[in-house]
Amino acid sequence: MDLIAQIRDKARQAGRHIVLAEGTEQRTLIAAAAIVAAGIARITLLGREAEIKAAAEQAQVDLDGITLIDPETSPLYADFTAEFLRLREKKGMTADKAAATMKNPLYFGAMMVYQGVCQGMVAGAENSTGDVLRPALQIIKTRPGVSIVSGSFLIISPKTEYGEGGVMIFADCAVNPELNAAQMAEVAYCSALTAQHIAGIEEPRVAFLSFSTKGSAKNELAETVAEAAKIARERYPDLLSDGELQLDAAIVPNVGALKAPGSPVAGRANVLIFPDLTSGNICYKAVQRFGGAQAIGPILQGMAKPVNDLSRGCSVEDIINTVALVCCQGADCGC
Ligand code: ACO
Repeated sequence: MDLIAQIRDKARQAGRHIVLAEGTEQRTLIAAAAIVAAGIARITLLGREAEIKAAAEQAQVDLDGITLIDPETSPLYADFTAEFLRLREKKGMTADKAAATMKNPLYFGAMMVYQGVCQGMVAGAENSTGDVLRPALQIIKTRPGVSIVSGSFLIISPKTEYGEGGVMIFADCAVNPELNAAQMAEVAYCSALTAQHIAGIEEPRVAFLSFSTKGSAKNELAETVAEAAKIARERYPDLLSDGELQLDAAIVPNVGALKAPGSPVAGRANVLIFPDLTSGNICYKAVQRFGGAQAIGPILQGMAKPVNDLSRGCSVEDIINTVALVCCQGADCGC
């Protein structure tokens, strides 16, 4: 069974209930029906009922077995508003602002997950990453022991000589424009958990990437990456990691042996940590477009309860896979 089929199967076994906040979006509707038909998850769509039904008719989607909730008229609305006010009062939230905010399906959906009404949320087919993430960061927050949420991609490359038979985790490709060394180390740890629990990689080997290998360039940016690798070695002694490494030194065995002899990771890394969002985001799209790799994600790591974002250019298949991923995440697996 290929990795995607395995993830869908694991999702089926988890029996989760997932909320899709963009209930009138055409690809989301088609995906919702397919997810329910395939038994991958129970689905709730958010939005005005009449509008969802009209959009479903247009998309020729049968809504049987899918729950529809209009945040504005839901019996949950009053409690959710009160809870949101309580959570955000110290941040200047007022009763009026909380009441208006909770009508936004992205906030209502995040509150459904926070309150345990469902076990995960997926959105982003029509909203920006920032707009999907903000409610989750404000309401659900990070899990204990994690200070920073990050976004990884599961990369499945046709070039099976790299990573774990072509399977790799890239991070952070979606959330934090900049990271300091300690944050980079934490992102690496979360990414290793994702590699184990989502990608099925038994031995994550983490490379902290740079334009320099082991001091070959004297530069502040490279030194921050080297510092991240040092922090990771100290904080997570059981995790195989090294840096700073150039990409070829990280994944090509003979280059790794030449540039970083004795490294536990060089030449065979399967978790790649980028120095910033610019390089991470560009690189995952480059391997996807130029290299023909499948890029599944972003997988949001470190959230107390799982929420996943979609790219606005996503396909129906991407939405189905992202829902399957969210079903496999959660407190029980550490990612
Ligand atoms: N981890 C944990 N908490 C965080 C994080 C994080 N990475 N970032 C922000 N927060 C918290 C803040 O502490 C704050 O909490 P508080 O209000 O309780 O104090 C809350 O989230 C909101 O933070 P802000 O700084 O007000 O939110 P901001 O507007 O900066 O949004 C966001 C944060 C959305 C993550 C922002 O950094 C962002 O837009 N990142 C880029 C996303 C992006 O465009 N990615 C590329 C596209 S994705 C793709 O191509 C697939």
